[in-house]
Amino acid sequence: MKTIRTTRAMAAWSERLRREGVTIGFVPTMGALHDGHRSLIRTARLRCDALVVSIFVNPSQFSPTEDLSTYPRPITSDRALCREEGVDVCFEPIAQTLYPQGFQTTVTVPALARRWEGAARPHHFTGVATVVTKLFGIVRPHLALFGQKDYQQAVLVRQLAEDLNLGVAIQMRPTVRERDGLAMSSRNIYLDADERRIAPLLSQALRAGQEMIEGGMSNVAAIEQVMRQTIEQAPTIHVEYLAVCDPNSLEPLSVVANRAILLGAVRLGSIRLIDNRPAKIPGRKSRTTQ
Ligand code: PAJ
Repeated sequence: MKTIRTTRAMAAWSERLRREGVTIGFVPTMGALHDGHRSLIRTARLRCDALVVSIFVNPSQFSPTEDLSTYPRPITSDRALCREEGVDVCFEPIAQTLYPQGFQTTVTVPALARRWEGAARPHHFTGVATVVTKLFGIVRPHLALFGQKDYQQAVLVRQLAEDLNLGVAIQMRPTVRERDGLAMSSRNIYLDADERRIAPLLSQALRAGQEMIEGGMSNVAAIEQVMRQTIEQAPTIHVEYLAVCDPNSLEPLSVVANRAILLGAVRLGSIRLIDNRPAKIPGRKSRTTQ
């Protein structure tokens, strides 16, 4: 496995492979890799000839009050995981490489970024959209994989790749969970023992909502009430949002007609957790590819 740090060397590597007709798969990450990342890497490994993983803790998607300086950076074990999974290139740019002096262009996907994580973290998705567009321009992948864990991010990246004709196919992979249902996240290490014990309530609430829809319940107010009650069993969890939404536009639904995505975010002390579950009213024909 090669480690590449400069945009010029990364672009040259990809350019040479593309000329040879090799398909390039790409998994962008911020490192602190776990089995959720591993599942994206494995899928890309199977679907493409060559595989690039980027590890870059992107400053522009953190607000000044967030955890940029303390975000975990276990680079040695990250590289070992990449090597183990047959990654060809670990792209590890530094911030000045991607954002040199004079950098000014940003990418915004306004409607998809307006609600949910975008409302809670105002500049977050512009930071994500900009860095992902830059990484696509440098790595020039044929296929890029994103986790359903960050559903809004994956939908937004799919939209920008299409809108800007970036020539990369975007694929979403299911959320990988701990045994008790907690979605894996690089930030789970921040949870203390008490918080870790109650953290699965978020996934349990979303699952309760999913089961209601799959049992034929279409009334969103009733579903949201059950989800909220599930979480409020623990007084130390604060609900930021729990919503039943259209899986493509992410606009809230009042009635589930067919497919929905259930989105949730909670706060446990200073830690935010997000999660989601897809759901479908039984017996209806699908009109989307979700
Ligand atoms: P990061 O949080 O490192 O996640 C990298 C990719 O792994 C994302 O597509 C994310 O959705 C996916 N992922 C994380 N946890 C997962 C889980 N439990 N199951 C499945 N997939 C999971 O997301 C980012 O980094 C950044 O915003 C990035 C896209 C790299 C831009 O900076």
